[in-house]
Amino acid sequence: MKAGAGLLSAVVLFLLVGAVWSQRPLRPKKPTKRPPSSRRPSVPRPSVPRPSVSEPSEPTDLPPVILGFPDIYEDCPKVCTCSRNYPSALFCENHNLREVPVIPGRTHYLYLQNNFITELTPEPFVNATEVRWINLANNRLHRIDKQVFERLPSLLYLYAQRNQLKEVPAGLPTCLEQLRLAKNRITSIPAGAFNKMGNLTLLDLYHNQLSDSDLPKNTFRDLSSLMQLNLAHNVLKKMPPGVPNGVIQLFLDKNRIDSIPKQVDNTINTYILDYFAGFSHLAFLRLNYNQLSDKNVPKPSSTSRLSWTFSWPTTTLICAHVQQSPGAPAPQPQHHRE
Ligand SMILES: *[C@@H]1O[C@H](CO)[C@@H](O)[C@H](O)[C@H]1NC(C)=O
Ligand SMILES: *[C@@H]1O[C@H](CO)[C@@H](O)[C@H](O)[C@H]1NC(C)=O
Repeated sequence: MKAGAGLLSAVVLFLLVGAVWSQRPLRPKKPTKRPPSSRRPSVPRPSVPRPSVSEPSEPTDLPPVILGFPDIYEDCPKVCTCSRNYPSALFCENHNLREVPVIPGRTHYLYLQNNFITELTPEPFVNATEVRWINLANNRLHRIDKQVFERLPSLLYLYAQRNQLKEVPAGLPTCLEQLRLAKNRITSIPAGAFNKMGNLTLLDLYHNQLSDSDLPKNTFRDLSSLMQLNLAHNVLKKMPPGVPNGVIQLFLDKNRIDSIPKQVDNTINTYILDYFAGFSHLAFLRLNYNQLSDKNVPKPSSTSRLSWTFSWPTTTLICAHVQQSPGAPAPQPQHHRE
């Protein structure tokens, strides 16, 4: 009987505990929207000067993300910030993003720099037909789907420096004006990548792994507005062929260039001109840290406005100046060929 009573009380106890347990309130669900009282004010980001150290392992060391105000613009992605003062801008930089949020149709300026984005696919850009600038610098991009650009017919500036691209993206919009792809791992340029890009003024391929075979003669053929071409810090052994001769700034330092070829000018047959003879607006030329010496650099022809300054040690370091003749007109950016 005593054992029976003990068993009974154990059963009762068990039931009681079970009842109490089942009455514990469920954990409240996280509110999907912040209540108005707990909204954090928008804090201007401190403009701390960046220390010039090597790239951190994480793109941003900033404090936790401050969410935007979804009530200002209903279409503002939760992971971005929208501003009443800049209705056409979407601020998604420094937000530790791994993918691109859906871009509202009103966006003209899209800030996505300093995140962990690995690829661009067309889906988020379905309504993004008005986008003019995209800053994707310092992400982990290794792929850009060609169809992305079909959705961006108004794109003028594409900044994608400091990523992991292995080639120049294909299908770039022909209206592009600035393309920055410095500090990627680019070893190839798809055939025709820059075709019909007659409005491109700036092409920055600094610090990639481009070699001579990646730059066939017609690579830059259509870039009639190009003003700045940066091919510094690649692995070129030769001067790049077919550089549009309206360029104002040409950067070729830190390659392995060992000579500057002479060119036969077919239009006047008998004359042999140096590489730069046709460059009517060249004002800045950088050739430092190559393998040039005064033996393999031709004397500029009389038609060229170039003059050379050789600096120590001449085998690795050559600076070249262009002397503007006095009274020469200021360089015109557009469509100048001679
Ligand atoms: C694109 O815009 C249309 C029209 O404004 C809207 O109905 C649709 O939801 C938008 N799509 C996305 C993915 O935002
Ligand atoms: C180039 O720019 C001009 C002037 O802004 C514009 O009219 C033209 O449509 C542009 N070309 C392309 C291919 O977008």
